[in-house]
Parts: sequence; C-alpha cells; structure tokens
Amino acid sequence: MGKTEVSAALRAKLQRAAVKVMKNAHAPYSNFRVGAAILLANGKIFAGCNVENASYGMTNCAERTAIFSAVAELGPKIEIRAVALTNDHGVACSPCGACRQVIYEFGRDATVFFQGANGPKQAHISELLPEGFRFQ
Ligand code: THU
Repeated sequence: MGKTEVSAALRAKLQRAAVKVMKNAHAPYSNFRVGAAILLANGKIFAGCNVENASYGMTNCAERTAIFSAVAELGPKIEIRAVALTNDHGVACSPCGACRQVIYEFGRDATVFFQGANGPKQAHISELLPEGFRFQ
C-alpha cells in the first residue's frame, strides 16, 4: 500500500481515463487494446494506450505511453502515485516486466490497479517488482 491511499472516487476517475484512452489503441496485430492512466503526486492524470508495430518488438505498452507523455509534458520530476489499467477483453492483465521497471523509475511508492485472475486487484509496485533497478 502506498503512503497515501488513493480514494475510491479518484480510483474510479483514473479507471475512466484508462477506458477512454484504450479506444485510441493501435493494436491490429494482437487485437488486444489496453488503456492506462497514471495519477501523479501533484494530482494530474495522464493516459496512454498500446501502440503496436508491424515489427512487433517496437510495440509500446499503454503504461509506458502514459508515463512518457507525462514526462514529455512536465519533465522528469514527476512522481507516480497510482496506475490504473484496463483492456478491451475484460481479462486479467497486470503490467509487463518492462513497464514495472518504468513505473518504478517514477513511482517507488506507486499503487497499481489492474484486473487479476479473480477480479480487480491492487498491488504496490514493490510487490510487482521486488528489488527494482535504480541507478545509484
Ligand atoms: N500490453 C499493454 O499495453 N500493457 C500491458 O500491461 C500488457 C500488454 C499490450 C502490448 C501489446 O500491444 C498487447 O498488449 C498484447 O500483448
């Protein structure tokens, strides 16, 4: 759990932003649309969708799209408080390993809301990514 818990209202707002942006996904290869919304410590919300590529490895996940657009707009001092994830198949979907490391870069105390195998889940980033890498 993060230091300051995210209220149910804020969580719902984050979820709505993720659902909205999911519709912009470019996912012609997997047909799996993902939306992510991040809540920053300053209260701002940024959203992103997955952007696939014919060269599959170039795909950018929804989480990283959201985080990179926040950095592009506000600079590198952003602090992520929470991340919400959604997908258009209504199936379990937690952030991939690469995205966990990117969330950790900007949110060492972030809470992640996602669909687990048995319904909605929340987890602290350190549960999803124990001993994340940090450049000392
Ligand atoms: N994907 C995301 O955008 N976020 C996740 O957390 C899991 C996977 C995307 C990548 C790819 O475009 C599609 O989902 C199928 O893997």
